[in-house]
Amino acid sequence: MDHRLRCVGSIPKVSFLLLLSLLLFSFVDAAFDLATIPFNDGYSTLFGDSNVVRSADGYGAQLLLDRFTGSGFISSNMYHYGFFSARIKLPSNYTAGICVAFYTSNGDVFEKSHDELDFEFLGNIAGKPWRFQTNLYGNGSTNRGREERYRLWFDPTKEYHRYSILWTAKNVIFYVDEVPIREVLRSEEMGGDYPSKPMSLYSTIWDASNWATSGGKYKVNYKYAPFVTEFKDLVLKGCPADPIQEIFDLNSCSDQYEDLEAQDYAVITPTRRLAMRRFRQRYMYYSYCYDTLRYNVPPPECVIVPSEKQRFKETGRLRFGGSHRRQSRRKGRTTTPAVDTDEGDM
Ligand SMILES: *[C@@H]1O[C@H](CO)[C@@H](O)[C@H](O)[C@H]1NC(C)=O
Ligand SMILES: *[C@@H]1O[C@H](CO)[C@@H](O)[C@H](O)[C@H]1NC(C)=O
Repeated sequence: MDHRLRCVGSIPKVSFLLLLSLLLFSFVDAAFDLATIPFNDGYSTLFGDSNVVRSADGYGAQLLLDRFTGSGFISSNMYHYGFFSARIKLPSNYTAGICVAFYTSNGDVFEKSHDELDFEFLGNIAGKPWRFQTNLYGNGSTNRGREERYRLWFDPTKEYHRYSILWTAKNVIFYVDEVPIREVLRSEEMGGDYPSKPMSLYSTIWDASNWATSGGKYKVNYKYAPFVTEFKDLVLKGCPADPIQEIFDLNSCSDQYEDLEAQDYAVITPTRRLAMRRFRQRYMYYSYCYDTLRYNVPPPECVIVPSEKQRFKETGRLRFGGSHRRQSRRKGRTTTPAVDTDEGDM
């Protein structure tokens, strides 16, 4: 598998106002208590050596994309279940055609039956916001994409924000800061589609000109290079495991599974669930669960939430205007953005 093959799909052309404030999620619990590790202790260069720049304090790194190469890093260990997290600041200004990915995978080891959990950030032309998607594959389920696409409630180029992937035997949670934005509960019916083999953590920046922004209409413009993504406060928590061993020793991991599931971030408290619902109702503009053209019957892990579903047409595209616009009118609120005409391009 080509580790740079990220960010499949295109992003919509329509702009929107990035107005909603941090206030929206300000009631969410305080930051996670996390142990961060020095870059060199946990990671090594994946490609584009000269464009992986360690920070002076040793705890962070920059990934650069210039006209010669993108770059990437990979965790030195593979982990069986874990919490993978970093504070990331994305490149600013004109970033059309650029893809930044933060993901777990074992595609280098299991070419035909790999597992994967993704954050994929898609750059945009100047003045237009980044978008991102999450996705999940298990045991080589590449013909069953499980993409969701979203906007953010802040400008990810201005400050560092934490992006995290929790992966346990029971569930997967994607977090942006302390807001859970997506939870996948493992169900029996998912079978091998639920990621279950040890994975490494990867992060990459690369030129995805062919399709990343408005279906390839906007290419990477190297006049603005180098494009710099900054990482710090890296977290790798999980049971280091060697997937090549026929049966890796799961017993030796059991304490670590228990510890992982006992962490604060492993539990979606009622407050966090409310934040998740709000996020999804306002910022999610595509979910495979509502794309009935693609999936006649939604895949088994899909939880159909009526207030989410009504945002989408049968095609899975966002309805014109989005439901939150109507809702805000109904509530007579004037502080909510009046513009939300995103079409969730596939
Ligand atoms: C941002 O991009 C515009 C063109 O889109 C350019 O004119 C401007 O100089 C850039 N600003 C910075 C700080 O790079
Ligand atoms: C994973 O896929 C392989 C075929 O590639 C199959 O033999 C195996 O049973 C699958 N495992 C699970 C857990 O579904």
